[in-house]
Amino acid sequence: MIDIRLAPLCGVTDHVYRTICFSFGCGTAYTEMISAMGYLCAPGQAATRELMRRGPEEKKLILQLFGRDPDTVAEAAARIEQLGIYDGIDLNMGCPARKVACSGEGSGLMRTPVIARRMMEKTVRAVRLPVSVKMRIGWDRDHINVLDFARMAEESGIREITVHGRTREQQYSGAADWDIIARVKQSVSIPVIGNGDIFTPEDARRFARMSGVDALMIGRGALGNPWIFRQAAADMNGGTAEAPTLDERYEVIRLHYGMMLESRPEHIAVREMRKHIGWYIHGLRGAARLRAEINRCGDPAEVFRMLDGFFNEAGREREEEP
Ligand SMILES: Cc1cc2nc3c(=O)[nH]c(=O)nc-3n(C[C@H](O)[C@H](O)[C@H](O)COP(=O)(O)O)c2cc1C
Repeated sequence: MIDIRLAPLCGVTDHVYRTICFSFGCGTAYTEMISAMGYLCAPGQAATRELMRRGPEEKKLILQLFGRDPDTVAEAAARIEQLGIYDGIDLNMGCPARKVACSGEGSGLMRTPVIARRMMEKTVRAVRLPVSVKMRIGWDRDHINVLDFARMAEESGIREITVHGRTREQQYSGAADWDIIARVKQSVSIPVIGNGDIFTPEDARRFARMSGVDALMIGRGALGNPWIFRQAAADMNGGTAEAPTLDERYEVIRLHYGMMLESRPEHIAVREMRKHIGWYIHGLRGAARLRAEINRCGDPAEVFRMLDGFFNEAGREREEEP
């Protein structure tokens, strides 16, 4: 069975959400990207510690680092390895954010292959853990160099590569290019993980079949939708991709909220849960109004009352449907 992974998503895929995705069949997950320099300068900083937390039920967790200086990244990787918490180290060569890419980090590394190679080689040498790289297909349409990068990664001792089928210039616009990912798969012998625009179980099946990749990675398609892992697996096995019932949706929201309240100060949990609830209820009747009300509310008990009302009403409407 092909491994279906949860993509690193800054501000979303913390240990709580990853744990929920694992419970629905996600095989591997990544931490949100962590600054190598930030870690070395202040390893005990509360924000970094939170990003690095691993939940007890997380199956396979890879820590993702970003940085521009090969020695800094390699040293951070070596120190993090000593913690004995993670199953691998991933190097971010895909982040398109201006602040990151234009200072030579993230996707900016795809413009400096010499530095990127050194970063891969040094990190591989610095740790025993498997080192992987997540990249885009290039900086812009005139500089599509993912095939060279993939080969370079293989030569540098990188154990697997993830390709998001867009250039940095595209950010998240246009369609992910799955064809070029299929070509990457043919051009290297290390595992290739395909990423970009998997929103439905059918997308996952089509992507896997047409590209022959070793694993798939889902990002935005998993927002408020941890069921996608179960659905994609069922669909690929020729089964039925069961959509979540209303009850199941509500149950997972309550579970998610409860786990957040246990792991964060209340005001932070309340704030963080607003976006997740928005994603969970997306597409249901009255979702926009409920979202607006929840966004104004700072009391979890009150949020639960609103959710109770909303899901009871949605359930009644379902029953009345002919
Ligand atoms: C909100 C958000 C945060 C992201 N954070 C990261 C990150 O920390 N590290 C990373 O490698 N990619 C990050 N990405 C990119 C995703 O991992 C993924 O490559 C991209 O969304 C394409 O996959 P998708 O079409 O399945 O969403 C982020 C994307 C989004 C939308």
